[in-house]
Amino acid sequence: MTELLNDAFNPDSFRSSGHKLVDLLADYLDSTKNGNSGLPVLPFSTPEKLLEYWEREINNRDGSPDDLFKKVLNNSIHIHSPKYMGHQVSPALPLAGLAELLSAFLNNSLAVYEMGSPGIAMERIIIKILAGAIGLGNKADGVLTSGGTIGNLTALLAARQSKSKNNVWKMGTTDGNAPVFLVPEESHYSVERAVRIMGLGDEGIIKVPVNKKHKLDVKTVERIFTEAAGEGRNIISLVANACSTSLGLFDPLEELAGFCKEKNIWFHVDAAHGGPAVFSEKYKHLVSGLEKADSVVIDFHKMLLHPSLITAVLFRDEDDSYITFSQKAQYLWESRGDKDWYNPGKRTLECTKNAMSLKVFFTLSNYGTKLFDDNVTVLFNLGRRFAELIKERKNFNLAVEPESNIVCFRYAPDSTGGKSLNLLNKKIRQAVIENGDFFIVQTEVNGDTYFRTCLMNPFTTENELFGLLDKIEITGDSFVSDQPEK
Ligand SMILES: Cc1ncc(COP(=O)(O)O)c(C=O)c1O
Repeated sequence: MTELLNDAFNPDSFRSSGHKLVDLLADYLDSTKNGNSGLPVLPFSTPEKLLEYWEREINNRDGSPDDLFKKVLNNSIHIHSPKYMGHQVSPALPLAGLAELLSAFLNNSLAVYEMGSPGIAMERIIIKILAGAIGLGNKADGVLTSGGTIGNLTALLAARQSKSKNNVWKMGTTDGNAPVFLVPEESHYSVERAVRIMGLGDEGIIKVPVNKKHKLDVKTVERIFTEAAGEGRNIISLVANACSTSLGLFDPLEELAGFCKEKNIWFHVDAAHGGPAVFSEKYKHLVSGLEKADSVVIDFHKMLLHPSLITAVLFRDEDDSYITFSQKAQYLWESRGDKDWYNPGKRTLECTKNAMSLKVFFTLSNYGTKLFDDNVTVLFNLGRRFAELIKERKNFNLAVEPESNIVCFRYAPDSTGGKSLNLLNKKIRQAVIENGDFFIVQTEVNGDTYFRTCLMNPFTTENELFGLLDKIEITGDSFVSDQPEK
């Protein structure tokens, strides 16, 4: 044992710094959620300056961890701020944050039973609650994994294994009849990435165009399916969005599920963002048909208030959750074939896996699923209200009527000072985020630039929404009066 090691495990220092950290976070929460922290939502810096700053800090050996806690906090993007309206990440529930600390400290991992109790039992309970809320039926099962990207890959690997004529796990995809996935144009890039990771390349993906409402249309799906099948292509699966990342719109799941059943292809729903609507009495109709999916992905770190990353991959038929990875690992489990739910490593890409279930279990045991209903309902209501405010303002164009808490719009004054509207909106967004009053992102709709807001914070009110529109207008008008740019 060295003195340094002994010191690093000193319980008194841990207690003292731990108390200071919790006090710091509680004060931060208090001021940030009420919008009076005085901190910019994003403390903007160039990548070079940021790197310089942290290079200095790592050599700052005199700095105590308490000082470093404050520096990290002050230099981070503030997702608990009601003026954070950016990417789809939840303000973390304080209780889930505490559970994360507990979990990190215990460092139990959820690959095999012995290493993962109690998290392994908790994971099973959570999966059953989620499957029940969706209505996937008694045979449903699944796993938790690290993020929607891995979640989509896990589900599509199962689709391939289930629908291929040969056992892909054993024989690879060399049977000359490569599987093809129908993927909506509006899908998150992780879906296409999953197909490419499988080695299926361009040939493995048919992009399905969306209709004028930016949604999948069963008639288009049918036409594309028929054409491709006529050319001898082996379509094994259709992916749908609930909801789409860019515009937050829900595909017509009922109809698409019926189509997949008729054609005997795998129906995967990427419900990473919008799946939690199943908990909302008011909005669950948006995901009607989700219960007919063969596989579903839902992120807890998007609409369910949890620190990243926690994703549920659910299968309507429990057997499908075991078919993908059928390896033997003599040091972990004895047989490859058993359906031992208590060894999640058999069903996930990950070996050592974060005990992510702990956080969700604490949340559910303290607040129940009512908290999820409240959050989804409050945020989806806010999305609709924001759309009304945008439509009431002159010079603002709403991209589409929002169905979720994702609202896209642009500033379109009569005169743009010689700039294109796309350039004007890009410049406004950059100025707004650099100024630090609000954080929003941007997207493209029919080739044009739009602001994209995800209202992720249940403490965001109309005041912040008015404030954002004012800020955009003032910033936009200052650019309009600038000299024209080339
Ligand atoms: C619909 C959808 N699917 C999947 C993902 C990827 O999820 P993750 O970032 O957890 O990997 C996202 C992320 O924004 C998403 O919006």
